[in-house]
Amino acid sequence: MIIAIAGGGSTFTPGIVKSIALRKDELGVDEIRLYDINKERQDKVAVVVKWILDEELHSGIKLTVTNDKKEAYTDASFVFAQMRVGLYAMRESDEKIPLKHGCVGQETCGCGGLAYGMRTIFPMIELIDDVEKYAKNDYWILNYSNPASIVSEACNKLRPNARIINICDMPIAIIDLVAAALEIKDKKNIVYDYFGLNHFGWFTNIEYKGESIMEPLKAYIKEHEILLPASYLKGKESLTSTSNNTNRHAKGSWYYVWKGVYEILENFPEYIPNTYLNYYLQSKEFVEHSNVEYTRANEVMNSREKNLFDGIDNYLKTGKIDEKVFYAGSHGDWIADLAIALKNDTKARFLVIVENKGALPNMPYDAMVEVPAYIGKDGPEVISQKPIPLFQQGLMMQQLNSEKLLVEGCIEGSYEKVLQSFTLNKTVPSMTVAKAILDDMIEANKGFWPELK
Ligand code: NAD
Ligand code: G6P
Ligand code: MN
Repeated sequence: MIIAIAGGGSTFTPGIVKSIALRKDELGVDEIRLYDINKERQDKVAVVVKWILDEELHSGIKLTVTNDKKEAYTDASFVFAQMRVGLYAMRESDEKIPLKHGCVGQETCGCGGLAYGMRTIFPMIELIDDVEKYAKNDYWILNYSNPASIVSEACNKLRPNARIINICDMPIAIIDLVAAALEIKDKKNIVYDYFGLNHFGWFTNIEYKGESIMEPLKAYIKEHEILLPASYLKGKESLTSTSNNTNRHAKGSWYYVWKGVYEILENFPEYIPNTYLNYYLQSKEFVEHSNVEYTRANEVMNSREKNLFDGIDNYLKTGKIDEKVFYAGSHGDWIADLAIALKNDTKARFLVIVENKGALPNMPYDAMVEVPAYIGKDGPEVISQKPIPLFQQGLMMQQLNSEKLLVEGCIEGSYEKVLQSFTLNKTVPSMTVAKAILDDMIEANKGFWPELK
């Protein structure tokens, strides 16, 4: 059984490979193939991947590292997709251009997310076509290449029959921190209901061993004025740490979104918001505490990316590796667990991004929504949710239509539709500002975006 990882040079590759190897019996995996268009980057990452498979875990899993699609995908059962088109340099541009115009500058939200979407749609379609051509007939692509919301919308529109499931680790990262805050050790006993678009949703209920923990959780957040475990707040050093040692979602500028969960709940106490809603509900405040010279892309380049590549160089010099140079944790675990559910038909429950088809009764049938589902060999069996209240539904429709216009504009090469997409986005105050950002982004994305007329 072969698992191919597209975007093999990703900073997350070592952690994901470790999660796969730790589950090798349940997955029945014989070979892992890394595929990337950037040979130099992937070859470096492969050094630590090989160390994990051979030296650390003695896994017996064969490793193939390639820049050839045919070699990567032939007879693969799973393809894990994690491409970052344009690398962190373009993430930096996505974050900084809107900020220069006084708007939210974020990797997947607002104009930054729209720009990243324009770069990623066609490479993802190419990936689907390559996998269709070479992989096993019953392949599954697990895609978490961002911006997952726009990518999933485009893939559903252009390749509706592809065997692809789009996923996001943010809700599980939130649940990890909820468990830590409430001192719940066995987080496997936590079950939640959720509705939204990707990076745009709400937990309507969270249960532990069959009992709702919404009230104790809300009380915790109110008391601490933040959704972070008390252990993280002590001394606050973990919040500013650049090591890979602590939960990556609780470091650096992530701090503000955990604080924002408290601030949102003070006004709208019914549901627990996904942290990403801060960029839309507190856009002005986000811009105020941002530093246009040093954004999250800079934080990541100076921590996760630097730690990994410095650690690899050090290993090549000294033969010693410190496992903390790479990030391992829930992110890889949950992707590997999802593959187990598909392969072994376990019907385990996961949150996935799928075509709505009535699961959220008052959202369009063809919207790509994020909802819980039971996962078996034929894919997700979605768990329908109640109708969405007007406030959340209005926000979601605005975001959905902004993203749909982006996808249509990208496919048709339509400047007007892309400008409508930017103008409609809640993070943008006016048409004129939308146009200024878009025009700067067209310059910055030359060679990545399709031409807009
Ligand atoms: P990274 O830049 O370290 O790695 C991305 C890799 O993708 C690079 O090696 C790059 O060369 C490669 N790549 C670019 N275009 C490609 C193409 N067309 N085909 C194959 N490979 C290509 O980035 P990272 O921070 O490690 O993140 C990797 C991806 O995972 C990003 O898209 C990121 O947004 C995503 N991610 C998603 C979630 C989620 O919740 N969905 C969580 C974490 C990361
Ligand atoms: C969360 C989101 C991902 C996003 C990541 C960014 O995990 O769910 O979609 O890619 O955060 O994290 P970073 O550490 O790169 O800022
Ligand atoms: Mn995500």
